[in-house]
Amino acid sequence: MSLLNDQRTVTLEIANEFMCGKTPLNEVIEHFYNNRVASEIKNKRSETKFILSALCRKLFEIDNIINQLTDKNISPRNIMIRNCIRIALVELIDLERPAYAVINSWVEIAKNKKRLMHFSKLINAVLRKFIKNNTKSTLDDSEKIPGWLWDSWSKTYGKTETIKIINASLSEPPLDISYVDTETNMLQLPVTLPGSYRMNQTGKVNEIEGFKEGKWWVQDAGATIPANILGDVRDKNVLDLCSAPGGKAMQLVAMGAHVTCVEISRKRIDTMKDNFQRTGLKPEIICADILKWQPEKKYDLILLDAPCSATGTIRKNPDLIHIKDQQDIKSNIKLQKMLLERSVEFLNDNGVLVYCVCSLEYEEGEGQIEAFLKDNSSISSMPINKDDFPEYQAFISPKGYLSTLPHLQEEGGIDGFFISKLYKKF
Ligand SMILES: C[S@@+](CC[C@H](N)C(=O)[O-])C[C@H]1O[C@@H](n2cnc3c(N)ncnc32)[C@H](O)[C@@H]1O
Repeated sequence: MSLLNDQRTVTLEIANEFMCGKTPLNEVIEHFYNNRVASEIKNKRSETKFILSALCRKLFEIDNIINQLTDKNISPRNIMIRNCIRIALVELIDLERPAYAVINSWVEIAKNKKRLMHFSKLINAVLRKFIKNNTKSTLDDSEKIPGWLWDSWSKTYGKTETIKIINASLSEPPLDISYVDTETNMLQLPVTLPGSYRMNQTGKVNEIEGFKEGKWWVQDAGATIPANILGDVRDKNVLDLCSAPGGKAMQLVAMGAHVTCVEISRKRIDTMKDNFQRTGLKPEIICADILKWQPEKKYDLILLDAPCSATGTIRKNPDLIHIKDQQDIKSNIKLQKMLLERSVEFLNDNGVLVYCVCSLEYEEGEGQIEAFLKDNSSISSMPINKDDFPEYQAFISPKGYLSTLPHLQEEGGIDGFFISKLYKKF
């Protein structure tokens, strides 16, 4: 198979593949750039990601615009034509590229592709009509996400709050970082939450001062909270369950803890090792399935960052909107329950376990914990106290659970997390 050497064609092929399956966008992009893209355009990878992420954020709005511009809707079977127009619209709207260049390029691509050549006139006409009419989306905010997600969020948070969640989730996030040396702020950045600093800089992360030298790593402000909720971990043993790619493990080591990581995925452990290598923060790593693993000792402090739908991270992973569904939530709930039941077996009496998920779904958060507490009489909730964590008070519920929502942090938002603190009764 010959390698693709035209940037727009690469973006189109990746969009086609992504829209047909449930593979995360990053994985599809990685596969293409490793196997199907010619070396002379490999440097365009971040541009491809930017365009397709913007498309994922706005897909419902872009399709609404396309539907207004076409008399007969383009058949859902012909996803390729629709993707040409979708990508061209992102180029026009988000990248503000000159209309003549965008339209001519897509018409040429269509003329040269067997499956598109009969539609080059349609693509030309739709894009020209868009420019002429300056067509805007007519969708309500509630229609910018899939119906099941609207139902889930509006049931949990109410309609007004959900609109705020949607708009924050569909905005591009700033870059939050944590320092290896917790005493310094070498880049002199504003502090968002304890141990979290915010950068509004765009561009390649590895070109920012101090990254290659391992002085900091990227971690959303919300993701720094679970480790802090464990309290003072200096010189203590902490079991970090479900560890990769290692953000919370690095934070715990930087806070002075002796950390043991348990993670099932070898591939993700490789990424985690790269992160530890770069920052010089080195916990013990065990590759194992927590459901089968037998620890040599029990722990006083455990962090369980369970696999979840990750709907709290849509700002960074807008592809999730299009690849997750209610069925995924159901299987996550089962796995989280099993992981929780297993994890508390690793606790010493009076030991503390912090459970967290980067999900906004009630069933993966509060619903999961309330059901777990009902079934497990040896475990109690240890309400997170506003006096102990004044910086987090806006996120703490009357029951002592902590939930961040994407719009609840000024100037740039925050990833959505649910966090609960549990202890084993003596
Ligand atoms: C939400 S991510 C963890 C993020 C990580 N704690 C961090 O801060 O970077 C969940 C992780 O759980 C791992 N996982 C899922 N099931 C597991 C199991 N049965 N045993 C061990 N790890 C598991 C996944 O491979 C994934 O890396």
